[in-house]
Amino acid sequence: MLVTSKAILEASLRAHKAGRPFGVGAYNVNNMEQMQGIITAAQETRSPVIVQVSRGALKYAQDKYLVNIIQAAIELAPEIPVAVHLDHGNGMEVVQRAIDLGFTSVMIDGSLMEDGKTPSDFEYNVEVTRRVAEYAHARGVSVEGELGTLGGIEDDVGSGMTQLTDPEQAVEFVERTGVDALAISIGTSHGAYKFKGEPKIAFEIIEETRRLLPDTYLVSHGSSSVPPEHVALINRYGGKMEAARGVPLDALEKAVARGINKINVDTDIRLAATGAVRKFLAENPQEFDPRAYLKAARAAIAAEIKKRMEAFGTAGRA
Ligand code: G3H
Ligand code: 13P
Ligand code: NA
Ligand code: ZN
Repeated sequence: MLVTSKAILEASLRAHKAGRPFGVGAYNVNNMEQMQGIITAAQETRSPVIVQVSRGALKYAQDKYLVNIIQAAIELAPEIPVAVHLDHGNGMEVVQRAIDLGFTSVMIDGSLMEDGKTPSDFEYNVEVTRRVAEYAHARGVSVEGELGTLGGIEDDVGSGMTQLTDPEQAVEFVERTGVDALAISIGTSHGAYKFKGEPKIAFEIIEETRRLLPDTYLVSHGSSSVPPEHVALINRYGGKMEAARGVPLDALEKAVARGINKINVDTDIRLAATGAVRKFLAENPQEFDPRAYLKAARAAIAAEIKKRMEAFGTAGRA
């Protein structure tokens, strides 16, 4: 069943207030096998789910292919609440396109300029986010904004510098923009190379933002755990990802306990798929039917997402 992300995240917020927190995974989708892996995991764990689509995904799938694939999953799994979310919208144009396509939730990332790489100033962020929130809310669509800059790669281009979120500024941002959800920068970054040394999350920023904004859904981007076993599989079968490192699942569970409601995961899906395909092709050199290796990718994606649905606590809530 298609729902807004607000419907799913409100349950997470209430559970946190009741002292039994759970987090909602938001998984990126680009093609049929990823969507099938995600919905299979949701069905097998009876989990509500947010599926999110980046600008890059819309371009890759010419909008329509992807929207219809997502629609098929929703039709075939009517018992699962599914929110369809635009990931890292960079301005009004793509937000309007997503809403026209039937998305129930949009992110406007005004922490960067429209080029997707230059950090913006606070007033620019407030203005672009406020306009999007007004437009989306008038159409019943949930809105996520972002304050702060993630280290490493923001969406398609490296921004290089980390700017952790200031909780007091977050209060002003939410008041002036009217967003439902806020992505905060707590030391994570996008992609497979998040930390040079030990993973370090600014848990105190989550706690303080949660205390000051008790009714805002808090979002953690760059939350792939980069499972060492997938990295090892990729490296064993011809890949080269030696220094890959993510946010361990227990750190994400701690983040949820402190008030994170939405946990963005894309890289782990890519790693699971790539590891499975590399292994399958190495072990079956005579095989040339894409269905054979994509089936392996799909199964690996489903298994990885099931683990997160159980760890984050959405399992059993659909
Ligand atoms: O935040 C970035 C997401 O992982 C989407 O990545 O722009 O390569 O689709 P993408
Ligand atoms: P990862 O690169 O850690 O999967 O983060 C994905 C994300 O934040 C999408 O918005
Ligand atoms: Na940002
Ligand atoms: Zn992100």
